[in-house]
Amino acid sequence: NKAQAWSALFAEPMSELVQRYTASVGFDQRLWQADLQGSLAHAEMLQAQGLISAEDWAAIQRGMETIRHEIESGQFVWKLELEDVHLNIEARLTELVGLAGKRLHTGRSRNDQVATDVRLWLRGEIDGLLQLLSQLQRVLVERAEAHVDVIGPGFTHLQVAQPVSFGHHLLAYVEMFARDAERLVDCRRRANRLPLGAAALAGTPYPLDRERVARTLGMEGVCQNSLDAVSDRDFAIEFTHAAALAMMHISRLSEELVLWMSQSFAFITLPDRFCTGSSIMPQKKNPDVPELARGKTGRVYGHLMALLTLMKGQPLAYNKDNQEDKEPLFDTVDTLRDTLRIFVEMLAGLQAKPQSLRAAALKGHATATDLADYLVREKGIPFRDAHEIVAHAVRVASEQGLELAGLSLEQLQGIDARIGSDVFGPLSLEGSVASRRGLGGTAPEQVRAQIARHRARLQDD
Ligand code: ARG
Repeated sequence: NKAQAWSALFAEPMSELVQRYTASVGFDQRLWQADLQGSLAHAEMLQAQGLISAEDWAAIQRGMETIRHEIESGQFVWKLELEDVHLNIEARLTELVGLAGKRLHTGRSRNDQVATDVRLWLRGEIDGLLQLLSQLQRVLVERAEAHVDVIGPGFTHLQVAQPVSFGHHLLAYVEMFARDAERLVDCRRRANRLPLGAAALAGTPYPLDRERVARTLGMEGVCQNSLDAVSDRDFAIEFTHAAALAMMHISRLSEELVLWMSQSFAFITLPDRFCTGSSIMPQKKNPDVPELARGKTGRVYGHLMALLTLMKGQPLAYNKDNQEDKEPLFDTVDTLRDTLRIFVEMLAGLQAKPQSLRAAALKGHATATDLADYLVREKGIPFRDAHEIVAHAVRVASEQGLELAGLSLEQLQGIDARIGSDVFGPLSLEGSVASRRGLGGTAPEQVRAQIARHRARLQDD
């Protein structure tokens, strides 16, 4: 593989080591569809502006169709000495259609070309991720509906706090994933602007119609400063940030799934096809998928940090550093996409174990706050005093190995004579949950209202 010389300017061919070090075709060939799309939109505009002939435009279209076919069928020969996806495709075009291929790059640089390709590619990937986020929300809403009346412990500090509907708990994640989707939509808007026309960095003397190219590509506008257009990758950082947050949410959910599957909790089961066994311990069923998702979150955080660091020291305008934006960005997309896909399928099989959830809520005296509220509401006792009375009751119950709701009326009245037989409603898990009827609370009627709201919202996606 003889290293090529750039042009007449160079006295010797590039060192092979440098060639391998600087080439990106090994990974950026993934941008090929965006590269064809961008080139065709550019060429169509060159023809409309009279900068190339109708014959050249026809030849370029023909050549690009052949290239599309070659790449799709795996016949296209990617050459390391042609450095990147852009030069590979352009060289093949010229092989196929001659001079017309050489005219394609009129008024264009690889700097505005690559910025355009990455934006086009990312836009498409965001659309796919948004669909997956909708699916994930739909699955969670469906699982929430199946578990509205299943009551379990809600935690703070991982200590039993107050009883909540398991469906309500699942809907908390729907809120998170809905915000993740909003962030992606927002970032898509800023990514979907056209760098082409900025050329290398300063713009071009050719009378290009940039708005026309933007329209052809379905972009929401053109980048207004040529130096900015070719050099910033903030849209990629913004995307990776949104992806890191989505992974963070998935990681929190994963942590809960892992805990809930542990024998010490035993709150849920996941379908066997999403679990793995142990090669030594025959009894094991391990939640590898959520564990791995929790682990992969770290690599997406790493990509975010890599991209932020990549940009921070670059003077305007384009620098080769930017070639390093691709692998972190690609891996972020792959990781988030694969994780969302597997969670959509896995969560569809999520089953709660109502008995264990109940037992855990009861064991933790989850309705202690309800007893205090009862004393305030029904008996006019100041909250601080009620808090103290209930703390006493919890201690008595614990000493006798009972749940708070397991104390008899006599025992309760021994602690405070004002307690009446009407206490057992508020003391029950159902009574506690049903009383939290305000907007956003865990009462079944409120949870069902939220499910209906999500259903209506997710319908249009
Ligand atoms: N492969 C390069 C990249 O990813 C394309 C742009 C190269 N431009 C240049 N002037 N070397 O950024």
